[in-house]
Amino acid sequence: MQSRVSVKFGAGNAFWPAPVALVSVGIENPNFFTLGVMGAPSDRPPILTISPKPYRYSYELIREHGQFVVNFPTVDMIRQVEYAGMYSGRDVDKWEKCAFTQVKGQEVEVPLIAECPVSIECRVLHEIRFQRDRGRMGTHVLVVGEMLSLSAHQEYVIEGELCWDLLDLIFRSRPASWRALGPVMGYDIRKSQPSDPRLSAERIEDRVTSLKDKALAFYREPPPLPTDEPAPPRVD
Ligand SMILES: Cc1cc2nc3c(=O)[nH]c(=O)nc-3n(C[C@H](O)[C@H](O)[C@H](O)COP(=O)(O)O)c2cc1C
Repeated sequence: MQSRVSVKFGAGNAFWPAPVALVSVGIENPNFFTLGVMGAPSDRPPILTISPKPYRYSYELIREHGQFVVNFPTVDMIRQVEYAGMYSGRDVDKWEKCAFTQVKGQEVEVPLIAECPVSIECRVLHEIRFQRDRGRMGTHVLVVGEMLSLSAHQEYVIEGELCWDLLDLIFRSRPASWRALGPVMGYDIRKSQPSDPRLSAERIEDRVTSLKDKALAFYREPPPLPTDEPAPPRVD
């Protein structure tokens, strides 16, 4: 298993542009689900928002324990991301089906997904429910979480800083597709620069080159779902 280190977070260091996440929830019988949209509306305190649908099993577990962990999967985990976004923890053990390992966090009791290179532990501060027309409940609940800890696989941390550019995170695009970020085209001069831009550039180049091979492999032979069952019909 990869060793995991704590990383400073705050001022814009959370995640951007927002990748797809696997949110782990629950303590005695933990579960996780795929999340497409999240927000980072405040640096101090460091706040992260997620929006589960109110009838989700995972939302029940968030309400029960007041904690959740946002784990970031990489492009090698696309089928697991799809699986976790199609099946419910009410019916299946997603840990077993996706061959993911639970690892203990530092601040919360909800387990992290060890295979994901970055995880953010959060506790629930508020929930905002929305109303639709005629008093009907809105489609999603906004769960506002305080980020308590950010940890990452050692190999992505250079001099204590998490190097997001080295991670092959997954982004959702239109038409519905899974994408990776391309190369870095420069650094914002108003912000702190990487301490060793040449080292970072070399590692980013390697990453981008290997992405091309992974994309071609995906087209030639898409990985199967981590189950023999057919995909369930779309419900929402
Ligand atoms: C890319 C993607 C993004 C998703 N984003 C959300 C989301 O933001 N909120 C939500 O409630 N469900 C979202 N889902 C659907 C849930 O992940 C899915 O319904 C899952 O099976 C719920 O699991 P659970 O029943 O174990 O809680 C998304 C699914 C996918 C594939």
